Order: sequence, then C-alpha cells, then structure tokens
Amino acid sequence: MLATVNYDFSNKTIIVTGAASGMGRATTVKLREYGATVYAADRNHSALQELCDKWGATPCHIDVSKVAECNALIKTAEQEQGQLDGLVNFAGVIKRSGLLECTDNEFDFVMNVNVKACFYLCRAAALQMKKQGAGSIVNISSIWSEIGASGVFAYCVSKGAVSQITRSAALDLAGTGVRINEVRPGETNTPMLASERGYTMSQTEIDAALNSIADSIPEKRLADPSEIAAAAIFLLSDQSSYMQGASITVDGGYTIR
Ligand SMILES: NC(=O)c1ccc[n+]([C@@H]2O[C@H](COP(=O)([O-])OP(=O)(O)OC[C@H]3O[C@@H](n4cnc5c(N)ncnc54)[C@H](O)[C@@H]3O)[C@@H](O)[C@H]2O)c1
Repeated sequence: MLATVNYDFSNKTIIVTGAASGMGRATTVKLREYGATVYAADRNHSALQELCDKWGATPCHIDVSKVAECNALIKTAEQEQGQLDGLVNFAGVIKRSGLLECTDNEFDFVMNVNVKACFYLCRAAALQMKKQGAGSIVNISSIWSEIGASGVFAYCVSKGAVSQITRSAALDLAGTGVRINEVRPGETNTPMLASERGYTMSQTEIDAALNSIADSIPEKRLADPSEIAAAAIFLLSDQSSYMQGASITVDGGYTIR
C-alpha cells in the first residue's frame, strides 16, 4: 500500500497519453485526485470515455502516431486552459517478435507509436512550455531501454530511443524552465503484459508466464500501475525541480542484479 502524498495540482493542466488503460489510467485518476485539469488522450474511445465520465478528465480521442493529431492536442489544451504545465507520454504498444521474425510492418508500427509520437508530443509541448518559461515532460521508457530482452526486438529498440529522446531533449531545454525526465517501469500488472501472448498461449499458460515473471523479480511481484504513476507524478511536480534528463527506474530490483 502506497503512503499518501498530498500534491497540489490545482490550476495545473496536464496531458496524459495512453490514459485509457494501465499506468496512464492510474496516473489520470491520481492527478484528478490532486486537483489537476487532465486532458486524457487515447485511441480507445469507449475506455477513455468511461474514465473521463467517472473522473472528470477531458477526453481526447487521438492516434498519437499522427503528427497533426499530436499538435492539435497540445494546441487545444493550451488554448482552452491558457497554459500547459505537464505532459506524460504513456501511450505505447508491443509486438512479441525477435529480430529474425520481426516484419517491416511490425517494426514501423512500434516505432511510430513508441518513438515518433513521443518526439511529436515532446516537440509540440516543449515549444509551448518554452514560451511560458515553465513545464514538465515525462516520458515512459522501460527497463528494456537499458538492458536487452529476447523476443521483443522492436519494442526494446523503441524504448532505447525514448531514453535518448529524454536525454537529448533535456540538454536542448536546460535553462528554459522546461524539464524532461523519464520513468523506466519494470514488469507491471497491466493489459500490456499479457497482450499478444494469446496468439500462441492459453489463459492458463499466460497466467503461468506472468507468475514466472513475478518470481524472477527480486521483490517477487509485478508492479502495480499506481506505483509507476507515483514516480511520474513526482517528476511532473515541483518536488523534482532540479531533475533534468533523469531516469527513475521502478522495477522491484530487476535491473540491479
Ligand atoms: N506493462 C509493463 O510491464 C510495462 C513495462 C515497461 C514499460 N511499459 C510502458 O508503459 C507505458 C504504458 O503501458 P501499459 O502497461 O499501461 O499499457 P496498456 O496497454 O495498458 O496501455 C497503453 C495505452 O496506450 C494506448 N495507445 C496505444 N497506441 C496508441 C495510439 N497510437 N494512440 C493513442 N493511444 C494509444 C492504448 O489504447 C492503451 O490505452 C507504455 O509506453 C509501455 O511501453 C510497460
């Protein structure tokens, strides 16, 4: 159980992508509890609408791999609220194929959502935040940005690129009042962890695979999405005011072994 932290995000406008599921959903809920105005973006219309109806976020139905839709998202939030204080890039996809099986289409699909969308949104948000002289951008990479994994080739490549977006952009933005940092989640209990396994595995086999993953983690359990949300919200907040280009690994000790 997480200890209660009392952030005050009232008068703050935050965009959360990938808000309809998993970590993005958990982050949207927490930000609403802390008083933020949240523009919740996702391509899953029904899940997004349900979240926004329940938690009072603004639904933004977009495909983040489309640059025009990313630019419009940033502009809408800024024009409606007068400023944009934060952006968290949770939207992401995975394909479970290794180097030898990965098709051109799979590679492009993963790079378009995980890397190009991150670039489009970081650029558009940073342009606006630089004008304001303030803002915080949080990217979501992965433990697979730091170490390799077999059978998820395009995904690992994409998350390595997200980490480089974070570091390079941080040096371009340092001194402007805009900060950009990232969270590196480990194995987290969201729909993504089980996704795509169903093509080759039964539900019993998927459950066994997830148990085996949990067993391989020093903490002997998967992360809860709220534990990733906590790190993202810290990076959005003024509590992390001296952090620039940094990465917070939240992985139950997986990568220190
Ligand atoms: N679950 C894990 O173990 C894990 C570990 C490390 C990193 N991550 C990363 O964390 C982030 C969140 O993952 P999650 O586990 O919550 O996944 P999830 O599948 O539960 O949620 C991802 C959300 O992104 C949305 N999305 C995907 N493509 C989109 C697009 N083109 N446009 C708009 N929305 C789109 C989906 O509709 C979904 O709601 C991802 O970037 C993922 O790569 C996940």
